[in-house]
Amino acid sequence: MKSFDIRTKIYFGEGALDRLSDLPYKKALIITDPFVAKSGLLQMITMRLHDAYTEFEVFSDVVPDAPIEKISLGVKKMLEYDPDCVITVGGGSAIDSAKSIREFASRSTGRHVALIAIPTTSGTGSEVTSFAVVSDPEKDIKYPLVSDSMLPTEAILDAALVKSVPANVTADTGMDVLTHAIEAYVSINNNEFSAALAEKAIEICGTFLLRSYLDNNDEHARRKMHVASCLAGLAFNSASLGLNHGIAHALGGKFHIPHGRANAMLLPHVIEYNSGINKHSKSQKEYPKCVEKYVNVAKLLGVNNFNEITTIRALVGWMQFMMKEMNIPISISQIGNIDKTEYFNAIDSMADKALADACTATNPRVPTKPEVVQILEHLYE
Ligand SMILES: [Fe+2]
Repeated sequence: MKSFDIRTKIYFGEGALDRLSDLPYKKALIITDPFVAKSGLLQMITMRLHDAYTEFEVFSDVVPDAPIEKISLGVKKMLEYDPDCVITVGGGSAIDSAKSIREFASRSTGRHVALIAIPTTSGTGSEVTSFAVVSDPEKDIKYPLVSDSMLPTEAILDAALVKSVPANVTADTGMDVLTHAIEAYVSINNNEFSAALAEKAIEICGTFLLRSYLDNNDEHARRKMHVASCLAGLAFNSASLGLNHGIAHALGGKFHIPHGRANAMLLPHVIEYNSGINKHSKSQKEYPKCVEKYVNVAKLLGVNNFNEITTIRALVGWMQFMMKEMNIPISISQIGNIDKTEYFNAIDSMADKALADACTATNPRVPTKPEVVQILEHLYE
């Protein structure tokens, strides 16, 4: 038996942020990062809270990758302030931090407080998922936390908040959306509901990701990518992810490559690996089942070729084209600041971490350690 539900109420479209003007909560803790706190974005939130007569305090100690020590500070703040609602504004790290802070605080008090997630990037889909990734910088490791109790109560998708996102962040986060949708689509846990959501997210990425990267004033493209991010989040919340994210967590934990960028760099390699298209000895009938799914992905992106295998090769080429257009390095050596010896010395431990990562469990092909090592080796050049 399977089940599917969307517990988070989603407000979207023009003026979605006005939901805050009639918020039914009296005391809100806003969890955000220092950039949002100093920018006009925070004011867009607080002016509406004044309208709703909701008092608030701001916790703005969030930093990238949600390190454990900052989560504990946030829990302390939440226990002291005792709000009836948490509002989180920011990218994946802010939303993941808020989900973890609320989770640990409510475990301590036994009281479940509402959580309203307002993303300021179009990437993680964290506003509708029960996942949060926190990091332990001392051990160079990222931990995915998974619990339905971490699902936000409400998500507000207002593209006005992504207006000032720099182009490189649009590129990285947009490729993260695409990776979420593709991994959910080929996951062994995929189902008709997650597939429908993933397909729409992939289709939107194919049409609007490059547009939103090339022209920050393209409001239509930005709005579409904001919705695609949420659709992909809903898809992987149901179907989970795969090896791409498993390796990206290990790679990002060790070398601090932005999450979406690490995913983008790995995507061509993981598609080739999962579909087995580099094994020339196989007859076409022997290719794994996910080949069909990757062909569908290619078609949704407007990529087609003579047969299944050439279509997947064209799909890999499309990924590399997108990365080149959006100035994303296609190899570790292209990043320029990662020492080759240090990278190769870290491969063994990154492979172990990738195999132990919860996301890897739903990959369509069960990876062995030598196979993951080989992907990481190929990623260098
Ligand atoms: Fe991701």
